[in-house]
Amino acid sequence: MLEIINLHASIEDKPILRGMNLTIRPGEIHVVMGPNGAGKSTLANVLAGHPSYEVTEGEILFQGKNLVELEPEERAHLGVFLSFQYPIEITGISNFQFLYSSTCAMNKARGLAIPTEEEFSKKLDEAMALMDMKSEFKYRNLNEGFSGGEKKRNEILQMLLLEPRFAILDETDSGLDIDAMRIVAKGINSIASPERSLLLITHYQRLLDYIRPDFVHVAIDGKIVATGGPELALRLEKEGYDFLSQGQVYEDSLV
Ligand SMILES: Nc1ncnc2c1ncn2[C@@H]1O[C@H](COP(=O)(O)OP(=O)(O)O)[C@@H](O)[C@H]1O
Ligand SMILES: [Mg+2]
Repeated sequence: MLEIINLHASIEDKPILRGMNLTIRPGEIHVVMGPNGAGKSTLANVLAGHPSYEVTEGEILFQGKNLVELEPEERAHLGVFLSFQYPIEITGISNFQFLYSSTCAMNKARGLAIPTEEEFSKKLDEAMALMDMKSEFKYRNLNEGFSGGEKKRNEILQMLLLEPRFAILDETDSGLDIDAMRIVAKGINSIASPERSLLLITHYQRLLDYIRPDFVHVAIDGKIVATGGPELALRLEKEGYDFLSQGQVYEDSLV
C-alpha cells in the first residue's frame, strides 16, 4: 500500500526527515511515537504534500505511484487523508458545506456518484451520531469556536465521510478526555478494514487501550529508530525514549 524509502525532507533548507523507511500493507494499523521535534508531523505533512516541505531524497510509493510527484489534491483523490494536529477554523463556511463539497469533489475524482444534499445529510447524521456530535455542529462554521476535543472529533467525522484508503492521524488523541478518546477510537476502529491502512501519530500509550496496532515505531531525529508491537509502546510509557536515543535499534526491529 505505502512504501517510504530513504525519505529525506527539509523545511526552509533545514533537514528534518533524514532517511525514513516505513512499509505499510493493506489493512495494517501503524503507530508512530517519538519525542517532540522528532519529525512526526513533518512526515504526515510530507505524505499529504504540504507545499512548505521539500523532499530532497527518497521515495514515497503509494499503490505503485510516487506520491512525491503528485499535487496534494491528487494524493487526496487517490485516497490519502491527513487529519491535522491543529485543525483549521474557517469562517463563512459551515461544517455541512465543507463536508458536502469535499465529498462531492472526492467522489467526482474517483468516478463515483455525487450524492444529493439530502442523501449526504442523512449519511452525515449517521456519522455524527457515531461520533456523538450534537446536530448543531452540522451548521456551525467549520471548527470555529469548537473546543480542542470537538475539532478532533470533527476530523474523524471528515475521515468517515471521505472513506480514505490510507489515513494519517496526527495526534488526534491529544488533549482528549477519556470519553472523547473512546469516541475517537470508535470512529477510527469503525473505518478499519482489510483494504484500508492507518498511520496513527501519538504520544500516549492509552490510545492503544482502544486501538490495536500491528506495529509501533519510534521516530527520533527524523528516522525510525525502533519497531515493535504494542508492547513497545508500553515500554516507552515506563522508560521514556532514553533507552533508544543512543542510536541502537530495539531488538524487535526485524520487520
Ligand atoms: N515551518 C517550520 N519552520 C521551521 N522549522 C520547522 C517548521 N515546522 C517544523 N519545523 C521543525 O522541524 C522539526 C520537526 O517538527 P515536527 O515534525 O513538528 O515534530 P513532531 O511532530 O515530531 O513534534 C522541529 O525541530 C521543528 O521546529
Ligand atoms: Mg507533531
